[in-house]
Amino acid sequence: MGDVLGRLRAAAEDRAAAGLRRTLTVRQRGGSGGLLDLASNDYLGLCGDPRVTAGAVAAAQEWGTGSTGSRLVTGSTALHARLEEALASFCGASAALVCSSGYLANLAVLTALATALRGGGVLIVSDERNHASLIDACRLARGPGVRLVVAPHRDVAAVRAALAGRTEESALVVSDSVFSVDGALAPVAALHAATRAHGALLVLDEAHALGVTGPGGRGAAAAAGLAAATDVVRTVTLSKSLAGQGGAILAAPEVIGTVTDIGRGFIFDTGLAPPSAGAALAALEVLRGSPELAAAALDSTRRLAAIAAQEGLGLASSAEVPVPQAAVVAVVLGDARAAVAARAVCAGLGVWVGCFRPPSVPSGQACLRLTGRASMAGSDLALAARALAGVRDHLVSLTLSPHSGDDAR
Ligand SMILES: Cc1ncc(COP(=O)(O)O)c(C=O)c1O
Repeated sequence: MGDVLGRLRAAAEDRAAAGLRRTLTVRQRGGSGGLLDLASNDYLGLCGDPRVTAGAVAAAQEWGTGSTGSRLVTGSTALHARLEEALASFCGASAALVCSSGYLANLAVLTALATALRGGGVLIVSDERNHASLIDACRLARGPGVRLVVAPHRDVAAVRAALAGRTEESALVVSDSVFSVDGALAPVAALHAATRAHGALLVLDEAHALGVTGPGGRGAAAAAGLAAATDVVRTVTLSKSLAGQGGAILAAPEVIGTVTDIGRGFIFDTGLAPPSAGAALAALEVLRGSPELAAAALDSTRRLAAIAAQEGLGLASSAEVPVPQAAVVAVVLGDARAAVAARAVCAGLGVWVGCFRPPSVPSGQACLRLTGRASMAGSDLALAARALAGVRDHLVSLTLSPHSGDDAR
């Protein structure tokens, strides 16, 4: 009873003391307020590209600014259908379903599959480092007949053991294909071999893979030769490499039909706004015509990772993935307050980087997250090098070893 707002203030003070308050940074028009942007997910630099902007404008002019209803009522246009065809064809999938965000694509597909299959029992095996939207989707999918096992990170043996020991008729193995915080690649081929051996479906979130990883940016499933595998379900976002907003599910028609019938995140949600669909369609066309963009983003990321390593900064995924397969470099600092201070050092030196703290990462694993760009010039890399040298100097001035972030807690 009593002062609820007072208790909220006290909880906020506790978060502030732990370096866990979050504030909105207002981005300046047309850029990052003079800072080099290594924080956003605009990997291919297509956000603001005139071809993509023209796609959004043409879509607004033809179809209006909103989709006017759920996809199942009035919210499906010829543009949505064209985008679905284009996504399926680009990624080699048999069918696609566009949702209004990547988050909702994950919610819709996992809850729909679990609901449809729960009669005979369903086991869901989910990597412990999966994106929050997959975690939330698994939580929502739970219920009678559904059992959830959280598997250690990238641990195929644990996945295999869970599948082998199950009593449930059906099983879903759920993983980011590229982990969002550190860019580590999931062991996609091995996960697929395990799921196929046990008659399960593999659900891969390709949000950070589309546009960067695999042949011409077709994703990690395509890189593993699984583009056409009917026992692989992929989700993507249109908000990163494709420079827009929205998400999609790429899967066999049986899966798409299930989501269309009972996927609550699809059914009870207004369809993607036409300008977003138009932008994504245009961006996909650019990517299809310029496969070198994906390679260029990866190349910049390799250089960023090399700079961070030169400065003695610990890379989150360096032990497992010596060569980045996605456009993300995470510099682990451990303590949330150290990460906030390091982000400020970078900003002071002209570079905007991401700062990931709990609950985005496990406690004690706060990091700076830098993203590589298709368009990075030598001068951008030099600026990034100065910023990371500044982080190293800052850590040294605190008499911390750059590798000993955990000691800063
Ligand atoms: C791995 C992953 N999946 C899903 C999402 C959600 O996508 P969206 O921003 O389109 O909702 C994100 C990004 O925010 C992500 O990083």
